[in-house]
Amino acid sequence: MASTYRVGVVRGDGIGLEVIDEGLKVIEAAGVTLDTIDYDLGGARYLRDGTILPDSVLDEWRGLDAIYLGAVGTPGVPPGVIERGLLLKMRFELDLFVNQRPFVDAAKGIDFIVIRENTEGTYAGEGGFLRKGTPHEVATQGSVNTRMGVERCVRYAFDLARTPARRGHLTMVHKTNVLTFAGDLWERTFNEVHAADYAEVPTAYNHVDAACIYFVEDPQRYDVIVTDNLFGDILTDLGGAVTGGIGFAASGNLNPARTGPSMFEPVHGSAPDIAGQNKANPTAAILSGAMMLDFLGEPAAADRIRAACAASMSGEITGSTTSVGEQIAARL
Ligand code: IPM
Ligand code: MN
Repeated sequence: MASTYRVGVVRGDGIGLEVIDEGLKVIEAAGVTLDTIDYDLGGARYLRDGTILPDSVLDEWRGLDAIYLGAVGTPGVPPGVIERGLLLKMRFELDLFVNQRPFVDAAKGIDFIVIRENTEGTYAGEGGFLRKGTPHEVATQGSVNTRMGVERCVRYAFDLARTPARRGHLTMVHKTNVLTFAGDLWERTFNEVHAADYAEVPTAYNHVDAACIYFVEDPQRYDVIVTDNLFGDILTDLGGAVTGGIGFAASGNLNPARTGPSMFEPVHGSAPDIAGQNKANPTAAILSGAMMLDFLGEPAAADRIRAACAASMSGEITGSTTSVGEQIAARL
């Protein structure tokens, strides 16, 4: 008998509600049974009763197999409240230290994965204000990089590059010529881990500004990329833009140590401008669902979903949110 997985579902806000339903529809059509538990969280919930992410919910999540999230964010909530209080709290508290974002455009021969460090860097929340609101105001926001945090992420990327599904090449992206403290720690960690345990893996290094040019002019050069949290955030939007658009960009926020659930979400946001109109492309959410199945140990179903999504990425499948979901489900 097939296993049942306990999955927390956060549809969230805006198009998140629409795209996750299509993802769940496709997973069911692929023959995988999920025992889903809905969590009404996000900007709309916050505006309604002030709830962001209670510790009791986090504790429930620790016992789940995975979390599937649509998108969070609503106009009317100040920037940072939901991002820090829900999404980043989830990444930090559940120790989702790898943010894995694959980019594929078969027609152009593009196939690379960005491994973004997901718990440190400028996202760590270090810093603060001095004399806030006065003419002498000071604001600092430091980048926190630990040897342990960088090393576990770099090791994950090397392991991934070595899997048979990849082409066996790893590029580190940073800005070592200017960020001489953080970049130095990253560079030494990368080189030491490489020499000690992955000497056979060919590697490269790109500064992040140069990587932006290569993403546009020669993305075929990349197989696996490992980079810091903020560089990874920016580069993966660019990655989406050069591989058919953010409507196809999937992600997994992974706890590879499996001390708790991992979380899967499309890279795109809640898109309030098109919410509720059955217009959003659900492919990124569906592909994120496939990543979730990979992680749950259902790679055959995940492969079938990815194959069906190729027709959406090539433009063969188009239409409303629900229609694209149905057409993908029908191809499984
Ligand atoms: C992403 C998003 C988030 C991030 C925001 C919403 C906090 O842009 O997942 O890429 O910056 O990590
Ligand atoms: Mn982003």
